[in-house]
Amino acid sequence: MIITPRVRGFICLTSHPEGCDRNVLNQINYIKGLGPNNGPKRVLVIGASTGFGLASRITSAFGSGASTIGVFFEKPSAEGKPASPGWYNSAAFEKYALEAGLYAKSINGDAFSNEIKQQTIDLIKKDLGQIDLVIYSLASPRRTHPVTGVTYNSVLKPIGTTFSNKTVDFHSGNVSTVTINPANEEEIENTIAVMGGEDWKMWIDAMKEAGVLADGAKTVAYSYIGPKLTEAVYRKGTIGRAKDDLEATAFTIADSLKDIHGEAYVSVNKALVTQASSAIPVIPLYMSLLFKVMKAKGIHEGCIEQIGRLFKDRLYSDGQVPVDEKGRIRIDDWEMREDVQAEVAKLWDEATTENLAEIGDLEGYRVDFFNLFGFELPGIDYDKDVNEIVEIPNLQ
Ligand code: NAI
Ligand code: NA
Repeated sequence: MIITPRVRGFICLTSHPEGCDRNVLNQINYIKGLGPNNGPKRVLVIGASTGFGLASRITSAFGSGASTIGVFFEKPSAEGKPASPGWYNSAAFEKYALEAGLYAKSINGDAFSNEIKQQTIDLIKKDLGQIDLVIYSLASPRRTHPVTGVTYNSVLKPIGTTFSNKTVDFHSGNVSTVTINPANEEEIENTIAVMGGEDWKMWIDAMKEAGVLADGAKTVAYSYIGPKLTEAVYRKGTIGRAKDDLEATAFTIADSLKDIHGEAYVSVNKALVTQASSAIPVIPLYMSLLFKVMKAKGIHEGCIEQIGRLFKDRLYSDGQVPVDEKGRIRIDDWEMREDVQAEVAKLWDEATTENLAEIGDLEGYRVDFFNLFGFELPGIDYDKDVNEIVEIPNLQ
């Protein structure tokens, strides 16, 4: 079929298999270009199919030749209906990994469940024995608790007071004011239950108990801080509470891994266009201004550049892993640079529907968004008939 983008609000309902394949290949080539590193050899990525998790899987496989197991929740293709982008990404990743002689297997299902954890542990035991690095990169709007069966939904709301600020509809370029009412206590608790650290800890506990964590194993989960501009809705809002919980969990996990000389970290990453982040109000406007400033300074990065740097300069550089005063790895260091933030804050005050295309990188944001779904990639013929049905070679 000929596949074109079909956009509804913050999501695109279709995705392009060849475009997704090209996205993965571009990331692989970037990592190969950095040269080999002394990274991990056996890696589990939870949330491996898109965004930072996919970049982590690619960096592990093509940076240090790692065997990888990827866990994700994606929709397969069906006759006349394209798969979700993470499905096509994973199919492409496995194809290229196998071509390169690398072990790569995937599990598609609910990572929050006991069943998927057990299936993953069984696969590790059967094929790899143990794991050297566990990347935890889930982004989900809901979680069904494996013990109580209760389903929690996360919300993106401020806490305490109503928040009002500028936002942009990046499809139309229309800048307007958005007002978001504060969350109640239950919404805060629910968001922590979905995006906090409990499930990460459950994974690591189950893996340790099963003896599948190697001596010296590391685990890393991803967090975000961001600027004053978005603080009320992000870091001091419901999602920020969940990130506080995730960051606190890193210490609990680190303690539990001491006897196997393991380490647990949160890495604070840069704001990037992913499926999860385009749904957060205010953030797209911030990002379009941020990208403009960072590109002008030659310090803009995407997921793969970020994770390439995380492995090379932080996790697997010589000596101790460099962390901030709260024990966090910071690869948002360039985003948070004072000169960058000062320029973004100035542009923020000036931004209107009329001038945003000029003072901000709205076009860059838009292209990044379509790229997530495999569209608008250079070198892909989108008028061509493509087979929407694509298998993931080693799906378990
Ligand atoms: P994403 O939406 O690109 O990836 C989410 C992954 O989780 C996908 O592989 C998806 O299949 C998987 N997933 C979702 N629900 C699942 C479930 N129930 N079972 C199994 N797999 C499931 O998200 P992104 O942006 O890469 O986010 C990953 C982490 O990075 C999140 O913790 C996010 O907060 C954090 N982060 C994101 C930033 C951004 O700007 N996008 C910035 C800094 C941190
Ligand atoms: Na991810």
